[in-house]
Amino acid sequence: MSRAAGSISRNEARRALLADLAAGRVVSDLAFDRLYPERIRKLSNRYWTPVQVACRAASLFAKHGARRVLDIGAGMGKFCVIAAITTDLELSGIEQRESLVTAGREVLAAYDIPRVTLIHGMLDDVDFDAYDGFYLFNPFEEGTFASSQWVDRTIPLSEERATEDIARVEAALARARRGTCVVTFHGFGGAIPKGFAHLPEETRGVPFLRLWVKD
Ligand SMILES: C[S@@+](CC[C@H](N)C(=O)[O-])C[C@H]1O[C@@H](n2cnc3c(N)ncnc32)[C@H](O)[C@@H]1O
Repeated sequence: MSRAAGSISRNEARRALLADLAAGRVVSDLAFDRLYPERIRKLSNRYWTPVQVACRAASLFAKHGARRVLDIGAGMGKFCVIAAITTDLELSGIEQRESLVTAGREVLAAYDIPRVTLIHGMLDDVDFDAYDGFYLFNPFEEGTFASSQWVDRTIPLSEERATEDIARVEAALARARRGTCVVTFHGFGGAIPKGFAHLPEETRGVPFLRLWVKD
């Protein structure tokens, strides 16, 4: 097979995978992660939300009335892409690592993924008022790991910075409007402020997934 024919069939296979996802068929993480370069794929087990968890989290935002959802610490946008394909939500992801944002944007463009914006930045760059849903897959914990376990060393991480970021998220959630939905996977290192109702029955069967809605 020629190189061009090989890349056409790879592209078709990836589009078929995204169509499967849209149709509610089971897609493995191994297959989904092939959208991204090897250096990103190999971080998947530890750092990127599993496909089935992302589908469930996205459906919770939709069910509980969120419209504009921010993934705080979006990586290359795995949650955002899956949520965009499986719901009508508007998704944004803020990510501090430029190389992940670049890889994520390439996938958005290559496969015409709708309603996703990946923002290169940190928490200071977030307008929390612009969203009624927040997704967090334990984004700040990496700062507590040895640097040999980090995604990469392009950003200086520390426990001190993790503590500051956690406090910023807690403060933003404390100010959030009524109806705001928060979904966490493995928590975010902080406490959900008073005023949010925890709905454990909604995440039953998915370990480490939690939903809160502000009263
Ligand atoms: C555990 S990964 C989760 C990625 C994605 N949300 C998912 O579920 O697949 C956490 C990501 O958050 C990013 N991150 C951590 N702290 C951040 C901050 N303060 N601002 C922006 N991105 C941050 C990291 O660079 C990493 O890519």
